Amino acid sequence: EKQGFKHFMLKEIYEQPGVVRASLEAYFNTEVNSGESFQSPVKLGLPEQFYADLEQIHIVACGTSWHAALIGKYLLEQLAGISTQVHYASEYRYAPSPPTANTLIIGVTQSGETADTLAALAMEKERRQGKEAKYQARLLGITNRPESSLGHLVPHIINTLAGIEIGVAATKTFVAQLMAFYALAIDLAYHRQTVAPDKLADIIQGLRQIPKEIEATLESQEKLTEHLAHEFAETQDFIFLGRGINFPIALEGALKLKEISYIHAEGYPAGEMKHGPIALLDAKVPVVAIAFPGTVYEKVISNAQEAKARDSRLIGVTPVSDGEAGEIFNDLLPVSSVDELLSPILTVVPLQLLAYHIAARRGLDVDQPRNLAKSVTVE
Ligand code: F6R
Repeated sequence: EKQGFKHFMLKEIYEQPGVVRASLEAYFNTEVNSGESFQSPVKLGLPEQFYADLEQIHIVACGTSWHAALIGKYLLEQLAGISTQVHYASEYRYAPSPPTANTLIIGVTQSGETADTLAALAMEKERRQGKEAKYQARLLGITNRPESSLGHLVPHIINTLAGIEIGVAATKTFVAQLMAFYALAIDLAYHRQTVAPDKLADIIQGLRQIPKEIEATLESQEKLTEHLAHEFAETQDFIFLGRGINFPIALEGALKLKEISYIHAEGYPAGEMKHGPIALLDAKVPVVAIAFPGTVYEKVISNAQEAKARDSRLIGVTPVSDGEAGEIFNDLLPVSSVDELLSPILTVVPLQLLAYHIAARRGLDVDQPRNLAKSVTVE
């Protein structure tokens, strides 16, 4: 069943281009007309109530799904102009935000069985009972298993299209969740008219290029990450830096590494380093920086320079290989140059491979890491 791959995790990493293709087909209309007759380019089947006078969104999730939610927040705020907060489900349950009718609650859980996420959503459902219909309708689940407990709990679902994921570390389900958030944010931006239709069409066109760009990344990274894994198999601490839409990818890169390789790793928004964590850095602590051209590129480069000044080995996940990037990074994990808004789907790939190869190199049980289960059904 591993189809020639050594572990399910690696197979699932390689399935990601297909997951993006399936999502594009399911979520987006192929006919994108322009001008007056422009129809929503997105087909999520959500009712009108979702769009009318929506004021804010709260997202609840755990782990990797929480990281996808952070990217969702970025898209929902920057594209659709809706104020969005992301909560750990285990925290939100006991300290929920005050209820308002114009708030949409989204639960993100690939398994649909995570106890804390279900409990947070059940609490929301409960406090909406007996209120106006639109208030009760504004509960949305994003899941890879629509037949799960989540499916029975919430009135609306966006079905992610990763197929079954066997490796405990989430990879293709994360990418599938990102695709759901692109679709939702574009749909809301269309209904709220926060982004011009032509621009939305451009974004979708960019998404259509992503599968082949992931394929190119997989092809070029396999050897590079395997080679780095050699060198880092005994490393004790790693720092991952990112900013803006790639900050959650720094968190995700760190989480992948800790959970399967048992190496201590932390993800930080690059600008926060100087407020404390920089004290950790020395020649023994490698720093992986995601430096993607766009709003924060120069800032990330200058944050990386600060790390370099502390003798850290610097690994850059970036489409840029010359100029400052070429000079300061000791190692490059190149990704294609795409619109910054779409970059997380690409930048996560080398980090998944890096974590995978380090864990495999250490001879660990990549698909079944210690102390972890695929669905966390206890609170
Ligand atoms: C990380 C991982 C976990 C899950 C978390 C939430 O690789 O697998 O952090 O993401 O337990 O699981 P779901 O999405 O099923 O709610």
